[in-house]
Amino acid sequence: MNIKEEIISKLSLEEKIRLLSGKNHWQTVDIERLGIPSITVSDGPHGVRKEYTAEDGSKKTHEAVSFPTSSTMASTWNPELVREVGKALARECSRLDVDILLGPGTNIKRTPLCGRNFEYFSEDPLLAGEMTAAYIDGMQSQGVGTSLKHFAGNNQEYDRNNVSSEIDERTLREIYLKPFEIAVKKSQPWTVMCAYNRLNGIYCSENKFLLSDILRDEFGFHGIVMSDWWAVHDRAKSLKASLELEMPFTEGSAEVLRAAYERGEVTDEEMDAALERLLTIVYKIHDSRRIRTGEYDPEKQHMLAKEAALEGIVLLKNEEGILPVSKEKVKRLAVIGQYAKMPLIQGGGSARVVPSRLDSAFDRIVEIAGEDIEVDYVEPYVLWNAIPGVDVNKAIEAAVNSDMALLFVGNNYEIEGEGHDRFSMKLLPDMENLISRVASANENTVVVIQAGSAIDMTSWINKVKAVVLQGHSGQAAGSAVAEILFGAANPSGKLAETFPLSIEDTPAYGTYPGNGFAAWYSEGLMVGYRYYDTYNKEVLFPFGHGLSYTAFEYSGLDISTQVLEGKKKVTVKFKVKNTGSVQGKEVVQLYVKEMILRVIRPEKELKAFGKVELMPGEEKEIRFDLDEHAFEYYSLPRRDWHVEGGKYKLLIGASSRDIRLQGIVEI
Ligand code: BGC
Repeated sequence: MNIKEEIISKLSLEEKIRLLSGKNHWQTVDIERLGIPSITVSDGPHGVRKEYTAEDGSKKTHEAVSFPTSSTMASTWNPELVREVGKALARECSRLDVDILLGPGTNIKRTPLCGRNFEYFSEDPLLAGEMTAAYIDGMQSQGVGTSLKHFAGNNQEYDRNNVSSEIDERTLREIYLKPFEIAVKKSQPWTVMCAYNRLNGIYCSENKFLLSDILRDEFGFHGIVMSDWWAVHDRAKSLKASLELEMPFTEGSAEVLRAAYERGEVTDEEMDAALERLLTIVYKIHDSRRIRTGEYDPEKQHMLAKEAALEGIVLLKNEEGILPVSKEKVKRLAVIGQYAKMPLIQGGGSARVVPSRLDSAFDRIVEIAGEDIEVDYVEPYVLWNAIPGVDVNKAIEAAVNSDMALLFVGNNYEIEGEGHDRFSMKLLPDMENLISRVASANENTVVVIQAGSAIDMTSWINKVKAVVLQGHSGQAAGSAVAEILFGAANPSGKLAETFPLSIEDTPAYGTYPGNGFAAWYSEGLMVGYRYYDTYNKEVLFPFGHGLSYTAFEYSGLDISTQVLEGKKKVTVKFKVKNTGSVQGKEVVQLYVKEMILRVIRPEKELKAFGKVELMPGEEKEIRFDLDEHAFEYYSLPRRDWHVEGGKYKLLIGASSRDIRLQGIVEI
């Protein structure tokens, strides 16, 4: 169809203006006369949060399968699995007649305090970008659209509607835009959602440099930009910056656009070009409804959510191999904390899904323990808050009388959620207290944490034997973590963000949250491990860290060439062997380090990763192909990507601080 001739030329000015904004909160405008359909959007990103009005007039939300949040999906380091989750989310959307799911979010975790970190993947742009691309690809392959958000520089919730993220161009391109760039180039999301904040002084919704020059002209984005909800301040300015769809319907917005048009500030060409882009996507989505299969098996959906939860859980600490729980050693077990029965599966705000089921870790523990272990349950806190009192004493008593204490702790919806940041990187003081008291009562204390971002554990980590990061793992979180604790599954998740010792150690400390007008990202490129590793800072758990119940040995590094010229590739091969006694999966990471610096560069940067499954004794070869992009940086004088000639180290490791093999390539 020739949209310009057959549709746009027949639209009145009023119709054009109407089409450029939402019809209501969740739908786009339809025009029956010309056969323009309406499309339905819904949050996102880890399940469908579709609202409806019940018969009694009250607002309700449909139940849907709640998958692990992006923070947990990232710690799977498994894009293939995330692609499957994307497909499963599309099936949820088809079932609920949703055309576009509002996600994924791929902002970089600049500070552990950002309230929405659970909705984001990583502190590293490559890991975030690859996971995002896989999610988009999976979902769109099933005929449902995505909305890549929040573009860009939305790395804190505090003051998000006003703050200007002040980011220098090199940092912007290498860190904050990179995951968006990877996702757009690899997977072409049908829509991108602009962020609320300003970027270098200009609202993202009006930022031509961002929405047009970078997103369309450089990244080659063919879809449409929609606004975050009410993020448009001036509809005319946003249209000129290439924002096609204002969401949701906003009183007064049409008048602003009409007045600007009448003053000649918005031309017919600009309006028609935006409409052409918008309607191209509207028809594409409408047509894609045909390829949606309509297949829906709630059990399969739940099992996939569980698989993703299993792979995303990270075993952070395991002294004396206390985990998995041994039926020989443990005859009586104390399970402490309401999160064992009612897990915190996600953060709060627009991403909060009403789960269709909720697995309880406690139930699964009792099932696995069978007759061999007597399991006590104590609830020293309710409603996701530690409440000191009589039940704390009961918890201590249960811990004293048991061979092991499994203590479930975490944040809550008020701590981690949209529109606000965390006040502290620590758990609530009462929770910390509870951990210390239980640990003093039982030397075999294992802590399970439900949270979507780094936690400061310094006050209690040395008192407990093991720590499991359950994360926010969706509705199957409970059974998944129980299986990990008892060794029915082997943990294979690794941290997608560094766990620093304290907030004072973090690179954005002192500049976050800004001065009320702007937040200067003066740490520049030194985000996450780029900072800790460059400045040689001690951390609690490094980026990429995660333990297993088996052990892996790395050997046989083979780099295809010592000197790399022009656009050629270097192939890096090595072997990984499972030297333990159980089957397991290992996440392998390749970092690049330039040896003699001519411009500032972080100590090392992740350039490739993979996940390999190995039976006991089995060995497999891993292969990474690196092209010039693995060595480049954004050169400000050239205003382009550039590779310096010289020597580079290739570091292969099990985490950013556990490098097992290394070699050199010269460019
Ligand atoms: C959030 C978006 C969300 C939208 C619709 C906004 O407040 O920032 O991520 O998709 O609301 O609920």
